[in-house]
Amino acid sequence: MKIHKIVDEIYHLSVNIEEEGYLFEGIWPIPNGVSINGYLIKGDKNVLIDLTQDIMDFPAAVSRQIESASIGVEDIDILVVNHMEPDHSGWLRDFCRQNTKAVIYCTEKAVPLLEAFSGVPADRAVAITDGMTLELGDYELQFFNTPNIHWPETMMTYEKKRGILFSCDAFGSYGSLDEDAVFDDQVSDEKHAFYENEALRYYANIVASFSLPVLKGLEKLSGLDIKIICPSHGIIWRENPSVIVDHYKRYAEYSKGPGEKEVTLVWSSMYGNTKKIVSTIIEVLRGRKIPVHVYQVPGDDVGHILGDAWKSRGLIFGMPTYEYKMFPPMAHVIEELIMKKVKNKKVFRFGSYGWVGGAQRDFEAKTEKSGWDVVGCFEWQGAATEADHDAIRKAVGAYCDSLEEA
Ligand code: FEO
Repeated sequence: MKIHKIVDEIYHLSVNIEEEGYLFEGIWPIPNGVSINGYLIKGDKNVLIDLTQDIMDFPAAVSRQIESASIGVEDIDILVVNHMEPDHSGWLRDFCRQNTKAVIYCTEKAVPLLEAFSGVPADRAVAITDGMTLELGDYELQFFNTPNIHWPETMMTYEKKRGILFSCDAFGSYGSLDEDAVFDDQVSDEKHAFYENEALRYYANIVASFSLPVLKGLEKLSGLDIKIICPSHGIIWRENPSVIVDHYKRYAEYSKGPGEKEVTLVWSSMYGNTKKIVSTIIEVLRGRKIPVHVYQVPGDDVGHILGDAWKSRGLIFGMPTYEYKMFPPMAHVIEELIMKKVKNKKVFRFGSYGWVGGAQRDFEAKTEKSGWDVVGCFEWQGAATEADHDAIRKAVGAYCDSLEEA
């Protein structure tokens, strides 16, 4: 990736993770890749804002990008570490060996992590205070504590004279960057739709659990005159930064409900008896003009399910009984959704049982503290009859009514 000048002597540095089968955070599929961005400010003091992950020769790639701005790694005077997660700090150990002079600006909570993750002693760091400024001649940086966007030690950096927010994980998305389209005004409408979907999925996978801190962070930033947003994943917003701010506000507010009038339907089946009801349910939802996102497990990864589940007002789960409990792949999905704090949903459950059942009891126990409003359920023994299909049409119809009320 070539470097991109943002304004004056401020540059975008970036690499894409595009390895097939790579799991972000070791969990989440990223079939469309993800970018890791850092930023360089050349001036009286040279500043690097966020590093990169120590994989796939990324540090060497970013070093070459810095050199293409006619300085070397050893010329960096100030390193701003907005976030210690290793996708942004993995290079830190080797960076500090190569550059022994750079002063590290980070939060107080990040200071012990410098040593723990990277063997970098605390005496190389300056712990910022909230709102603290750093005058650097043509540039002036201001630091804000923004805890839990995405881990407890996170902060953001604001260049006051130009109104540029270096937001790290906040306002980020999955999706590799195209070398010739890293700014929002260079991206086609189709590609914007792609990044929006990838931003939602990134939010649901990475940030969703911390939606309350996101709302607090947005409130804190609301007084700033933000002209450009430079996140550490995804495109740079220079034409219309309010677009991604509004998206993030909407995503965070989904945590409080009610979400979009859509349904995410996740189903699993052992011998096809539960599967045969799925099309009947979809027919009812479509008849009511309710968009439905359909996933099957095992097969579809929970990382993909999370994005649609997060924004949907309704969740429908279909699974048979397996050894007196829910079919295990579905139990895993439900546990993951609850762990990610997918709350305030209207829920319906259906499934076949063979001998004595048990999935419904297990479902009720596992979702008791989920914050979900379980509006209905439908179970039948063995293969569904025409009467079962009629009954579920009626039950799903009542469920659709509940979505209107939300
Ligand atoms: Fe992109 Fe929380 O790291």
